[in-house]
Amino acid sequence: MALISTKEMFKKAYAGGYAVGAFNVNDMEIVQGITEAIAEEKAPVILQVSAGARKYARHEYLVHLVKAAMECTKIDIVLHLDHGEDFEVCKSCVDGGFTSVMIDGSKHTFEENVAVTKKVVEYAHAKGVVVEAELGKLAGIEDNIKVSEKDAIFTDPKQAKEFVERTGCDSLAIAIGTSHGAYKFKGAAALDFDRLQKIQDLLPGFPIVLHGASSVPQDLVAICNQYGGKIPGAQGVPEDMIAKAAKMAVCKVNIDTDLRLAMTGAIRKVFIETPGEFDPRKYLGPARDAIKAVVKHKVRVLGCNGKA
Ligand code: G3H
Ligand code: 13P
Ligand code: ZN
Repeated sequence: MALISTKEMFKKAYAGGYAVGAFNVNDMEIVQGITEAIAEEKAPVILQVSAGARKYARHEYLVHLVKAAMECTKIDIVLHLDHGEDFEVCKSCVDGGFTSVMIDGSKHTFEENVAVTKKVVEYAHAKGVVVEAELGKLAGIEDNIKVSEKDAIFTDPKQAKEFVERTGCDSLAIAIGTSHGAYKFKGAAALDFDRLQKIQDLLPGFPIVLHGASSVPQDLVAICNQYGGKIPGAQGVPEDMIAKAAKMAVCKVNIDTDLRLAMTGAIRKVFIETPGEFDPRKYLGPARDAIKAVVKHKVRVLGCNGKA
């Protein structure tokens, strides 16, 4: 077992018509819950670390936790930086043992995004690290996008082709209607599959990444709310849409919110049912189990179980 790149993983996923889950990690229980599920399901996996996670747990702890999980579960793991906001953070993760980094230049102009992505690609590739880039903007529910505004926010297929050719990035995160967090759609959920198809046609064989892909299962929301939570109106990407994207060019599907809901619901349940409990293992253990159950289900939706 080893820390590996996404190169072969995405080739297999593309050819096999499935996607790999990229799960955000912030602490030991999350790393354990995910990797135990992945080992049992014999699935490939990407563990991703955000700037917030690095600030919370520290880079070194996260790297060592991931390496420990690799040893204990005997699985290969891609260790990925999620939403690297500039060259420096990407460099620090390349130098610090990650096998994949994301440079998120989506807030910049097209030309600035090309420039910073190229710079990261040159640095990372020289050290054998792969690079995910982003083009287009993930909308928040508050943005309430009108059809006429989609072209300004969603990824333009022709630009995507030019961007990939000019930057040499290894995968591309696109905007087709998903967004981060638990509130993704106000009305009916909809993803722009025509746009994904156009991108796929212009970039045949090239791995596409879907951020904001939690499905926000209502049973997880219900557990949170049943035990004192207040998250009304939460709505994620329906699982059939995720499964459809996974069969297309989408090779990496990012999931964080579903893990947060599972963990929080499990902890709330313990606190409400046994208010006298104050042994952290008695609430973090169930949280870890809840994460494991979500990941086991998720890899089946993505079709990557048995593909490690
Ligand atoms: O895309 C964002 C991920 O959910 C990570 O969130 O920046 O709060 O760690 P975070
Ligand atoms: P969710 O908020 O839908 O889980 O998306 C997570 C993500 O895209 C991390 O980069
Ligand atoms: Zn994201």
